[in-house]
Amino acid sequence: MSESRLQGRRVAIGISGGIAAYKAIEVIRGLTDAGAEVRVMLTPEAMRFVTPLTLEAVSYHPVAADWLAAQGAGETHIGLAEWAELIAIVPATANTMAKLALGLADEIVSGTVLASRAPLVLAPAMNDVMYTQQQTQDHLAALRGRHAVVVEPAIGRLASGKSGVGRLASAERIVAVIEAVLSGRRNLDGLRVVVSAGGTREAVDPVRYVGNYSSGKMGRALAEVAAARGADVTLVTTVPSNPEGIAEMPVGSAAEMLTALEKACTGADVLVMAAAVADYAPDQVAASKLKRTDQPIDLHLRPNVDILKALGPRRGLFRVGFAAETDELRAQAQQKLESKHLDLIVANQVGVDGQGLGSDFNAVTVVSASGLVVDIPRLPKWEVAGRIWDAIDTTRNRGA
Ligand SMILES: Cc1cc2nc3c(=O)[nH]c(=O)nc-3n(C[C@H](O)[C@H](O)[C@H](O)COP(=O)(O)O)c2cc1C
Repeated sequence: MSESRLQGRRVAIGISGGIAAYKAIEVIRGLTDAGAEVRVMLTPEAMRFVTPLTLEAVSYHPVAADWLAAQGAGETHIGLAEWAELIAIVPATANTMAKLALGLADEIVSGTVLASRAPLVLAPAMNDVMYTQQQTQDHLAALRGRHAVVVEPAIGRLASGKSGVGRLASAERIVAVIEAVLSGRRNLDGLRVVVSAGGTREAVDPVRYVGNYSSGKMGRALAEVAAARGADVTLVTTVPSNPEGIAEMPVGSAAEMLTALEKACTGADVLVMAAAVADYAPDQVAASKLKRTDQPIDLHLRPNVDILKALGPRRGLFRVGFAAETDELRAQAQQKLESKHLDLIVANQVGVDGQGLGSDFNAVTVVSASGLVVDIPRLPKWEVAGRIWDAIDTTRNRGA
């Protein structure tokens, strides 16, 4: 995330009393690094887990904790409620969420939430049984019904030592959701999105393949941004990384990718084909490892499956393709947009140092079937992904 993304935005972080309280420090760091102003408030129980001193040091401001103290330490709850553009509770305990759902206000965090009309983001963290318990789920549903945004906890090792759902979402994910809410881009809520990523690997023999330099980073960024904006995301990728909050389907070859996409696209609203699918694949796959000899060998390649063509246009599915070209970028993109019946195409110039395949940066041109053209300059892939989603959203909703 660039330094200015949240420049001057006012975020109040409420910390409640769970083991994950110390992880709020990373979230505060992420927000201040992105330019946000942060004020921290602690429940009395949270003060048993983390100290105000540490939080003052990372937020550069006094921490609001004891709201009954004479002159109050730090801000008052009304002052904070009016100051905050957004309130995020990190971590949100089962107890604090129950209080928020019921409108209880018996300490500064719940008191500030009740006194504010700012958007509320909740990042729950707790034992898996506490989290899946009906009471907790009912409170979460009530809070969602009142437009609270919930950053779902991850599945993983819990404080108890066992594995389950209830681990606090990563700091990056929480900051990304806060950014989406603050920028008015939590607009993919409920949308079912499928993204393909990475270069396909076409087997030569059991240990070798023909591939390309695609790292899967652009596809992953597209999947992560969509998830932060509220979409239900499936990532079909040759470079699995188990991203939080995203359903991942690892694949190898183009044929495997097609099978996975057939399944993932059923009922989906948007397909983004960011994968670099090999145009050719070995005609024959050797059953056992080819032995090294002193003689050259010929690898006979056949045209590979054309995934977009094989999937075909589907009712209700908005289809986004990628074109990696070395020359005549716009003309090639336009031609591919038409021949593959795409709704939108993202064209990137390959062969330029420091962007595109394998890089953390990209520069692209987006062209929609309805005539929208957006040039996105060289930026980190995460930011390029954000602008691509803006273009998809504009095209889908306004037919631009
Ligand atoms: C060691 C310890 C760890 C705890 N961790 C959690 C937790 O991760 N999540 C949670 O919801 N409650 C947790 N609790 C229970 C809360 O601390 C307890 O419900 C408390 O009343 C929460 O107060 P608050 O919501 O006002 O901060 C833990 C309790 C203890 C003693």
